[in-house]
Amino acid sequence: MKIFRTKGELQAALQDIRQEEKTITLVPTMGALHEGHLSLIEYAKPRTDIIVCSIFVNPTQFNDPKDLENYPRPIEKDIALLESVDCDILFLPSVEEMYPENDPEWHIDLGNLDKIWEGEHRPGHFQGVTQIVYKLFSLVEPDQACFGQKDFQQVMVIQRMIDIKELPIHLLICPTVRSEEGLALSSRNARLSEQGKADALTLSKVLRFIKTNIKKRSVAELLVDSKVMIAENPAVTLEYLAICESSSLEPVSEIEAGKEYVALITAWVENVRLIDNIILA
Ligand code: PAJ
Repeated sequence: MKIFRTKGELQAALQDIRQEEKTITLVPTMGALHEGHLSLIEYAKPRTDIIVCSIFVNPTQFNDPKDLENYPRPIEKDIALLESVDCDILFLPSVEEMYPENDPEWHIDLGNLDKIWEGEHRPGHFQGVTQIVYKLFSLVEPDQACFGQKDFQQVMVIQRMIDIKELPIHLLICPTVRSEEGLALSSRNARLSEQGKADALTLSKVLRFIKTNIKKRSVAELLVDSKVMIAENPAVTLEYLAICESSSLEPVSEIEAGKEYVALITAWVENVRLIDNIILA
């Protein structure tokens, strides 16, 4: 695996690859890699010639400075993991490399996607995400980019940005990787105790309950019953739970046959903010 720390070095290497007419897939991450991240690389592998993974803890998408400061950065371990799955290129820039002085202000009109759910609870988060992903897209000019379904709203936001900017990039959306018990893997899980991990299973349990019962009960009943399940475990504090139309993420009160929906959940366990979702076809 080749490791580049500057935009210039990366672009020089990519120019040679493009001359050979090889396809490039970008997998953007913030590091502290786990099986979920590695699954994106495994997913991309049979669908591309070259995989570029980026590791960059992007300051502009953190609305809590403590969260940014505490974000784990086990870089040697991450490099070993990427080598174990045969990643071709790792891009590992500094903050100065990605945000030089006099960097222009960024704003993109994401409509309601920026105002609901994660957008409401993390003001500015998706502006920061689109800002860095646009920089990475412009630099790498990938044919495809791989994102996890785990961050469902993020995928919708990136697709919206691709549409607005008319970028010729195809999104690959990879299924969420979970622990055997059902907990969605996340870098933040490392901050949970064993008890916290057990409590956090409430999120996936509620999502499975909604999926199983979607045809049997009304949306209102499902939400009430789910909230009762969550309230039964005082270690879990719900931030939001919603059943939404899957591309606009607008909440719905009725399920219509033939449409795709998604249940979104965010909750706190041991001061750790956890998010999860399930697609309801
Ligand atoms: P990060 O949280 O590091 O996630 C990188 C990618 O891994 C995202 O596409 C995320 O959805 C995916 N991912 C995380 N956990 C997963 C799991 N359990 N199963 C499948 N995929 C999983 O998301 C970001 O970084 C940043 O916002 C980024 C897009 C890199 C921009 O800074």
